[in-house]
Amino acid sequence: MNTPVKQHLIDPEICIRCHSCEAACPIGAIEHDDRNVVVKADACNYCMSCIPVCPTGSIDNWRIVLSPFSLAEQYDWSELPPQGGAAGETVEATDPAVAALLAEAHAGSEGAARAPASASKPTINLYTAAKPVEAVVQGNYRLTAESSGADVRHIIFSFEGRPFPALEGQSLGVIAPGETIPRLYSISSPRDGERPGFNNVAITVKREPGGVCSNYICDLAKGDRVRIAGPFGATFLMPDEPRARLLMIATGTGAAPFRAFTMRRQRAAARGGDMTLFFGARAPDSLPYFGPLNKIPNRLLRKHMVFSRIPGAAKEYVQDRLLVEGEEIAEMLGDARTHIYICGLRGMEEGVEKAFVSIAESVGVSWGALRQVLREEGRYHVETY
Ligand code: A2P
Repeated sequence: MNTPVKQHLIDPEICIRCHSCEAACPIGAIEHDDRNVVVKADACNYCMSCIPVCPTGSIDNWRIVLSPFSLAEQYDWSELPPQGGAAGETVEATDPAVAALLAEAHAGSEGAARAPASASKPTINLYTAAKPVEAVVQGNYRLTAESSGADVRHIIFSFEGRPFPALEGQSLGVIAPGETIPRLYSISSPRDGERPGFNNVAITVKREPGGVCSNYICDLAKGDRVRIAGPFGATFLMPDEPRARLLMIATGTGAAPFRAFTMRRQRAAARGGDMTLFFGARAPDSLPYFGPLNKIPNRLLRKHMVFSRIPGAAKEYVQDRLLVEGEEIAEMLGDARTHIYICGLRGMEEGVEKAFVSIAESVGVSWGALRQVLREEGRYHVETY
């Protein structure tokens, strides 16, 4: 008789086909067709690299099987088979050996990315691609100058009477007409809504040339009805601890969650830990929320805005400014109340990492070891695209 093995599977009902897992898999064990995203049982080595990048949690599914499900079977599913369900293929979870294998699988995935210990419990997948909620557009405002070349917009959706319990740092998925797969956008309003008590949320969207969903969203008019899935995201969340210090690093529309974080702190009665924002854009007129951001007092939010395309000035990226402010950053890194958030272009990750290595080294600390501690304590969060 075969020995039971654990098989890594993706839940097709919840998966939004963003293919982040496929991009994160270092050994090419994940692939997709136009229906499903599937895992090759003979290739997957349970390295867990795909787990933290999945916005929905659909990646974190495990079955204990005597013989693994084939790719053809996985492509054909519209839902996962239950544990111990499919005609003798999977085995009973009540068997202690099987329960141990399942526990091992989930323990591995827990080590990957963590929410801050104090974060409020997020709701995820309340609405799916198959069962979205319909929201009404309350407003669509251009945030960048016509002359800047970048069309970045602030869009507000109202859920009218339907619940949409989103926390700061979570995302939602917009399903454009004729599409079945939602595109993810970070929510830029705090948990009590863009306007407190009005059951609405805001997102920040940049029009991308040829982008089906971004053009659809940027062209929305007040009163339009939009299909939305979500909320998504269970780890890139704010600590619910007023004394926590937040170090936030963003490029472009990556500032969306940090607007939400800042508004949460502005609205909350209890204030304590400081907030520092490093924000990179091409120029002030293409930096979303430039005006309102500048009005926030420094005692609430320290702002380091850097620009890469100002005529006559040297190009500056967020990582360059981190180094300039190395002393301040080193002090924050040494404080157990500090939480780090990085959001924006994927390309910034490498540069920001290098800046942290150099700042940590300057005070005799190994960034690799410190980052590990920060991750384990749910104090280091990266969301890039
Ligand atoms: P750049 O002028 O080199 O494009 P965007 O406007 O495309 O959304 O980008 C936001 C900001 O992020 C721009 O200032 C852009 O500079 C900058 N940027 C581009 N690549 C990187 C990178 N690898 N690291 C940090 N910032 C970057």
